Amino acid sequence: MIRNRIGLKLGLVILTVFVLVLTSLGLAIDRMFTNFYNTEMRTEVDELTTHFTMMTESPNVSTDTMLLKFADFSNVSIVYIDDKGNIQAHSGEIDPSDTSFIRSGDVKTLFSGKTVSLEYTNKAGERYFVAARPIPTEGGQNVTSSLYVLSSTKHMDDSIAAIRKLLVLSGIGAFLLALGIIWIIAQILSRPLIQMRDVTRKIAVGDFDARLSINSNDEIGSLAEAINNLAEDLQRYRDTRQEFFANISHELRTPITYLEGYSKVIKDRLYDTEAERDQYLDIIHQESQRLQRLVNDLFELAKMEEGKISLSLEWMDLTEITDNAVRKIQLKANEKGLQLNTHISRVVPLIYGDGLRTEQVLINLLENAVRYTEKGEINVYLKEESGFVYIAVEDTGIGIPDDEVPFIFDRFYRVEKSRSRQHGGTGLGLSIAKKLIELQGGELLVTSTIGQGTRFEIRFVRDEQEEPA
Ligand SMILES: Nc1ncnc2c1ncn2[C@@H]1O[C@H](COP(=O)(O)OP(=O)(O)OP(=O)(O)O)[C@@H](O)[C@H]1O
Ligand SMILES: [Mg+2]
Repeated sequence: MIRNRIGLKLGLVILTVFVLVLTSLGLAIDRMFTNFYNTEMRTEVDELTTHFTMMTESPNVSTDTMLLKFADFSNVSIVYIDDKGNIQAHSGEIDPSDTSFIRSGDVKTLFSGKTVSLEYTNKAGERYFVAARPIPTEGGQNVTSSLYVLSSTKHMDDSIAAIRKLLVLSGIGAFLLALGIIWIIAQILSRPLIQMRDVTRKIAVGDFDARLSINSNDEIGSLAEAINNLAEDLQRYRDTRQEFFANISHELRTPITYLEGYSKVIKDRLYDTEAERDQYLDIIHQESQRLQRLVNDLFELAKMEEGKISLSLEWMDLTEITDNAVRKIQLKANEKGLQLNTHISRVVPLIYGDGLRTEQVLINLLENAVRYTEKGEINVYLKEESGFVYIAVEDTGIGIPDDEVPFIFDRFYRVEKSRSRQHGGTGLGLSIAKKLIELQGGELLVTSTIGQGTRFEIRFVRDEQEEPA
């Protein structure tokens, strides 16, 4: 049952409501039947009394004995009394010693010509409906005797008891049925929850392959979908992280090996000419730079993730920044035989941001463009358009597959792992770039067609504030 807490709670609530409704319904039905039978019987006894009174008055009915017999036949008892309340005659089952139903007040009422009706329980505990009528003498002036008709409620009570039994039985039946249905509903409700609990536990201990197979369209279904997405994200995160550690150790190991090897060569003077020594020193220099870049990137990323990076914000001139970045990358583009075209607007408004960081991002995008383009051209745009200013870098390179585009800004994510490594990339550039641009309130957007080229766009919203003169 502990497995089924939600079901249990829900079941209890539904059951309580159900029992309340059932009980009040049962009571109402019981009341209705009891009232109905009571009224029915009262009317019947009244009618019988009228009937008997008329028979008594009728000249055709010769003897009282006959009337008494007739009463027995009708399953009622009749009693004649005089104006003192004494019994003159009575039919079968009446115990003449128990005359408590004849009350002196009623006798007066009767002999003043009015009718009386009451309920009465005899010594043996049997209940009766009693109706009494005065019997006028011929001519209707005086009342010399009155007639009591007593009808036992036993028959009625039996019927009511039978109905009650039926009500209770159907109540129990309905209760059991409800119990069954609630149990089934509770199972249906709690099963997916239990499944979710089990799967999330698995995910928590690192089993990111665990997935839920709940395909409903309701809130439970969307929760299950969210859990599956979370597992996927975690799985991807773990994979890229593992890959990153593999990469990072590789990336670190390569320059360190070079540094170690070539410095040893120099230390042991294992070179023939000065030129050869300079070449080795060049390699050592390059590799230490590479190492430094990697460490810087990692440090930068760590700072940004902790929200500790500080930007020096100023009014920056994107024209100047774009010119600088393009100039710095020109050589690399030329070396690869790529055409680098610029379309730089000279009249864009100043943007409030960190100029050095923006240049760093742009250089990164340009480096990527050069790195991932084998032939063709790279176009750089700087434009102002409906409320924003953008710098776009378009290349005619290898492009990025559609399904990988959403991940290229993730840390350590590289599309073509081996090719990227061969290019010296670690997959940190874009994630740093995106964070830097977002910290300045801008956006970094990408569109790409595989085999045709890629376009990155740094977009700033034009500042509404008054710019400095
Ligand atoms: N212009 C581009 N054309 C095609 N693919 C690109 C382009 N720019 C980025 N990519 C893909 O996105 C990945 C992530 O880019 P990112 O700049 O973050 O990393 P990197 O260039 O591999 O390494 P780093 O920039 O850290 O030296 C790259 O590995 C590459 O596969
Ligand atoms: Mg890069």
